[in-house]
Amino acid sequence: MEPALDYSFPGLTGDMERLRPALALALETAGWTAPDEVAIFNLACGRADETGVLLETAAPRATRRFYLGIDIRAAEIREARARWSPARRPADEIEFRHGDASLRMDGLPDFDLVFLRHQNFWTDAPVWTRIFRHAIGRMKADGLLMITSYFDHEHELATACLMDLGLHRLAELTNPRTRPLDDAPGKSVDRRIAVFGAGGLRSGGGRVIV
Ligand SMILES: C[S@@+](CC[C@H](N)C(=O)[O-])C[C@H]1O[C@@H](n2cnc3c(N)ncnc32)[C@H](O)[C@@H]1O
Repeated sequence: MEPALDYSFPGLTGDMERLRPALALALETAGWTAPDEVAIFNLACGRADETGVLLETAAPRATRRFYLGIDIRAAEIREARARWSPARRPADEIEFRHGDASLRMDGLPDFDLVFLRHQNFWTDAPVWTRIFRHAIGRMKADGLLMITSYFDHEHELATACLMDLGLHRLAELTNPRTRPLDDAPGKSVDRRIAVFGAGGLRSGGGRVIV
């Protein structure tokens, strides 16, 4: 699934192609099965570069896909809309909203999958704790929440917070093909991925450390 407009920056295509198998493995490990009518929430989505890869990986065969991205930055949301809102399939509903996810998010449905790529917990733990709490409040009872992180310490802080908020970790993956960031030692793109659920382990679900 290519974006409608020709957006690019160095490394983007490779990052997405490396993200694809890592997402697939993390979801499979967590026991994810996409329902036929799926609702996916991309929280703090920024420009939502990963929209195509996420939809193709998490719900390639769903007959109806509702996908919502929210971010506090208006410019990023405008860009995400221009790139992805023209639906690729007639039954897709792809929407982006500008908003503060640390505040109550009323009027939203419950989601099968909540996704936060490159979550930023370390920048402001109280704000991100509220974002996580609201995200959890939007999960279906059997829904999953997935995060990716760019460095280990932040991943561990975010994981501890999500588990304090009552989630169970169903999958944990260190991305073997992560791209190091030259200007930030110890950081690399989608270096860690974890999947959480509100219930216990699903059948077929388990943890993996690569
Ligand atoms: C590190 S960026 C990741 C963006 C995107 N997920 C990606 O992988 O490219 C973190 C994002 O969190 C968003 N953000 C921070 N605080 C937020 C809030 N209170 N509500 C919604 N989005 C927020 C920022 O605007 C930013 O786009």
